[in-house]
Amino acid sequence: MSNISITQLDKTYPGVTAVHALDRIDLQVEQGEFIALLGPSGCGKSTLLNLIAGFEAPSAGELRVGGQPIDRPGPERGVVFQEAALFPWLNVWENVVFGPKIAGVPKRDYTARAEEMLEITGLSAFKRHLPVQLSGGMRQRVGIARVLTLGSKVLLMDEPFGALDAQTRLTMQELLLSVWQTLRTTVVFVTHDIDEAILLADTIYVMSARPGRIATRIAVPIERPRSLDLITGEVFNELKREILKQMRH
Ligand SMILES: Nc1ncnc2c1ncn2[C@@H]1O[C@H](COP(=O)(O)OP(=O)(O)O)[C@@H](O)[C@H]1O
Ligand SMILES: [Mg+2]
Repeated sequence: MSNISITQLDKTYPGVTAVHALDRIDLQVEQGEFIALLGPSGCGKSTLLNLIAGFEAPSAGELRVGGQPIDRPGPERGVVFQEAALFPWLNVWENVVFGPKIAGVPKRDYTARAEEMLEITGLSAFKRHLPVQLSGGMRQRVGIARVLTLGSKVLLMDEPFGALDAQTRLTMQELLLSVWQTLRTTVVFVTHDIDEAILLADTIYVMSARPGRIATRIAVPIERPRSLDLITGEVFNELKREILKQMRH
């Protein structure tokens, strides 16, 4: 059974000038699959992600995660935005364990996992740092470690590296590849960057704008584990050309 199952999902934002943001989206995501939603600004990527997160309600259609209909946010669906919303007065450790702590989970039940997530996101040496003492990339790592500590089965990422400089973005993409390789979490990754989609995803859904539709589904024929080296490879460039062509249509 698919982990995320979306059937004929439609979203219209009501108002004087109603916006038909998503038009009959069908999407099946397997357990442990890494998918990218790729498309130009305004095509409905964030809307689709927010529906899966339970922040927005669909206008029509069906949306299930792990077989359950979605009508609200939940800890099994962790969300990472472009800017990690960290508490500035809490240090890295306190930010990362905030969720389980506030939920009343006993300390012994989350400490080991939080330690492990800080380790795989390269933050172990920064536990006592405050957010203001960290770079943008480091703050995003904290945001990722925090969601991973929740133990979410599905990771929803909305252009998480979009605000970072090119070099840091590459480092973060590499980090995410290695985190995924370790945890094999289901990931829905929103981006408008073709390179990023090819590098990270098993499957790319190219979206077209107004109203947002899934134009094409592309299985990325590049084996894992992957590294940044593949960006210069022939398969990569071939695929990039193909996607560019489709996005121009
Ligand atoms: N809360 C909202 N109310 C009204 N319109 C919205 C709202 N959120 C997004 N939209 C509109 O829906 C369309 C899709 O937006 P969005 O999902 O943010 O696209 P993307 O993330 O691909 O840039 C856009 O035309 C946008 O202006
Ligand atoms: Mg968006």
